[in-house]
Formats: sequence, C-alpha cells, structure tokens
Amino acid sequence: MTDAKLSLAEKDFGYPVLSGSVGPDVIDIRKLYGQTGAFTYDPGFTSTASCQSKLTYIDGDEGVLLHRGYPIGELAEQSSFMEVAYLLLNGELPKGDELNKFESTITRHTMVHEQLATFFRGFRRDAHPMAILCGVVGALSAFYHDSTDIHDPTQRTIASHRLIAKMPTIAAMAYKYSVGQPFQYPDNSLSYTGNFLKMTFGVPAEPYEVNPAVEKAMDRIFILHADHEQNASTSTVRLAGSSGANPFACIAAGIACLWGPAHGGANEAALNMLQEIGTPDRIPEFINRAKDKNDPFRLMGFGHRVYKNYDPRATVMQKTVREVFEALNVSDPLFETALRLEELALSDDYFIEKKLFPNVDFYSGVILSAIGFPTSMFTVLFALARTVGWVAQWNEMITDPDQKIGRPRQLYTGPTARPYVSLDER
Ligand code: SDX
Repeated sequence: MTDAKLSLAEKDFGYPVLSGSVGPDVIDIRKLYGQTGAFTYDPGFTSTASCQSKLTYIDGDEGVLLHRGYPIGELAEQSSFMEVAYLLLNGELPKGDELNKFESTITRHTMVHEQLATFFRGFRRDAHPMAILCGVVGALSAFYHDSTDIHDPTQRTIASHRLIAKMPTIAAMAYKYSVGQPFQYPDNSLSYTGNFLKMTFGVPAEPYEVNPAVEKAMDRIFILHADHEQNASTSTVRLAGSSGANPFACIAAGIACLWGPAHGGANEAALNMLQEIGTPDRIPEFINRAKDKNDPFRLMGFGHRVYKNYDPRATVMQKTVREVFEALNVSDPLFETALRLEELALSDDYFIEKKLFPNVDFYSGVILSAIGFPTSMFTVLFALARTVGWVAQWNEMITDPDQKIGRPRQLYTGPTARPYVSLDER
C-alpha cells in the first residue's frame, strides 16, 4: 500500500492509498484533521469517496454502469426489475426458486394499511404527486413500528421488502388521487410491474388487461433507474441512516432530494423543455440559451456529474422509445425534436468541450408520456425504481463496520468573536 504525501506548515504527512476492485484509488484521509489541524475542502464532493460499496460501479469516461458486476445493458435486455432488486440486495443473481420466493414475498407486502388512504384526503387534488409521496412515505414509520429497529436484521429485511413492495401502491394512489379516480387494490396474480400498471390505469368499471409490451418497457425503465452509486439522493439516504433514523424516514429524505430538477426532477423538466421548444426549428434558440453564462437555463436531461460520455441508460431508453411507439402504434413529434436536439448539441463545441451528453432523464419522459403518465408523475416513477437502490445502499451502510454518523465540517468565513451590543447602543 503506497502513501500519498502532504506537506503543510513545513511538516510532511503520509496517507494510505486504498485500491478497490476497479476504478480510482482513494487517499485515506481519516486522520488528516487530527494530524494537520486542517480540513479538506470539496463542495459538491466532486473528489470525495464517502464510503466503500459493492453495489454499483460507474466509469463516467467509458460510459460503463455495472450492478454487482453485471452491465446495465445486459440487465436491461435479459433481466427483470425484481431480479435486479434481488441482485442489488443479495449480491448474486437468484438461483432455483430464489426469485419466485422473493417475488412472492414482495407481492404479499404490496397492500398498505387501510388508514394510509385517509392521508390522501388531506392533500389538494392538484398537489404534486412528489409532495404526496414525500409525505406518505415518511408517514409509513407511523404504521410499521415492528420494522424500525435498524439493529435487528429481521426487521431491516421486513422494512426493505415493505418499502420496495409498497412504493408502487403509494405511487399509483398518488396518481389516482390527482385524477379523482378510486384507489385500486393490488392484484397478486400480476407481476410487480403489471400490478403497478393495473393499480395506476385500471378502473373498477371495467377489466384492465396489462399490455405485455408496455409491461416489459416499464420494467426495463425501472431497471435503468434502480441504483446509481453515491448520487445526491442515495447520499441523502445514507446520511439520514447514519444517525440511526428508521428506514421509512430515510427513504422519504431520499425522495425529497430526488425531486430537485438537477437530479431526478430532470425527467419532468426535460419533457417540459421539449414541449417549450416544440418544433426542431426552435432548437438553436435553446442551445444558445444553454450556452449563455447569463442565462440560468440548462438543457434538461443533458450533462452528468460522473458521465463524461454517453449515459448507457440513455442508449437503452432511446431504443425503448421506438419499441413502445411500435407496440402502441403511436408517435410523438417531441421524440423527433429530442433526437434533433441531441444531434445538434453533440455537434456543438460547447457541449463537446464540457462533455455534456444525454443522461437517463432525456428520453424517459417521451416513453412515459406515450404510456399515459402525466409529466408530474415522472419523478415519482424514478423514486419508485430508485427505492430498490436506496434500500440496498441503506442496508450496506448499516452493516458497514466503518459506518459512523455523517458530520462534515466547514471553512468558516463569518464574523469572528465580538461582544453583544444593546439596541440603544447600535
Ligand atoms: C440524475 O448523480 C447521479 O448519478 C444522478 C443520476 C442518478 O441516476 O441518480 O444519474 C440521475 O440526476 C441525472 C442528471 C439529471 N439532471 C439534469 O439533466 C439537469 C441538467 N444537468 C445539469 O444541471 C448538470 O449537468 C448536472 C447537475 C447533472 C451535473 O452538474 P455538475 O456535475 O455539477 O456539472 P457543472 O454544473 O459543474 O457543469 C459543468 C459545466 C458548467 O459550465 P462551466 O461553469 O464549467 O462553464 O457544464 C455546464 C455548466 O454550466 N453544464 C450545462 C449543463 N450541464 C452542465 N450547460 C448546459 N446544459 C446542461 N445541461
């Protein structure tokens, strides 16, 4: 193990360099403040590894995304969301009847406490579904006290299954409430994703048949959103969990963070942007705005903190647009606008120099809109899928022997000590 050398105030220090199985090495600076009296400074954590993890690996330069070593493209094409959930939670692909048992367990947790339905009555019908999701998921800890002891592995497992299972039910309820339709109970005869589609689009007045092509596309979209290393919302879940907060509260914190337009809220913002652009002839105007330092406008669905190459999820997403359009025999001029916007942006020096490529959020809205979801539900769907990653990361953090409460420091630039002055002397 080599050391990284640091010279400060005419003293020399050495810090161990740790290597993972793949990816950048890390400099272990846990003793730096104690030895030097100085902090590191890294707003946005662009150069900071917050933990060790075995879940997901991203190579931003190469556009690589692995879940427990399996490439996202192969999982999206050959696996299922429930199998990817099992993989992230357990570390290996299920064998034998392990997947059936896991799916059966999840299925039997999809109902929510009947009292939870009354929570929705307090919201306005036009409440944003993400506002509802934040509130209702946080409230789960008021219902499931028997799975909030984070030091009990059995309770952690039950809470994990409850969160993964109930998120589709709550998401569908948020949609139903917004359109004034009755909530639909889960149907245990359906797949995880098929059940979600039925709870969302089914009505008591007539039977609902799950469209297999839509079910497959939706399941693939869930896979693409399942986990993504230490992104902002996952880091929020870990930080909340580091204080010992119960898992339902931690996931509610992750939902709140994901809502931001710079993060999971970008899928809603990207479709709104495409609708504002409208036709391809207006694309240059928006590209110029995105390049203008004095204009806060950014191309939504473009750029990424880690990917400085094409987001592999966007590749699969674009392919899925065509499959869904064909299956539903629909088209959307906004898809053509999106394709043209990508083409023009990727040929523009500004985007080339800053390595700004489409990310997972650029095409997802076009598909979700074609399936029938309103734009306001897009981030809810992201949160539904990312619950698997958040839960897996939360479990990994809780069982990490190095885990301690997260408590960053700061560079203080405020006033130094000064005496209080009474009002009549100011
Ligand atoms: C997600 O972290 C994850 O893994 C997130 C995620 C996940 O699965 O969890 O992948 C999901 O959040 C995807 C990203 C969704 N967000 C958007 O699409 C919103 C638009 N994109 C940006 O706001 C931005 O690209 C970020 C927030 C995604 C990344 O920002 P960074 O890494 O902090 O980069 P930056 O803001 O420092 O940008 C670098 C430069 C800047 O120019 P300079 O100040 O260097 O001159 O690129 C510019 C930015 O102004 N830039 C853009 C741009 N994104 C960055 N310019 C125009 N349009 C954009 N979209």
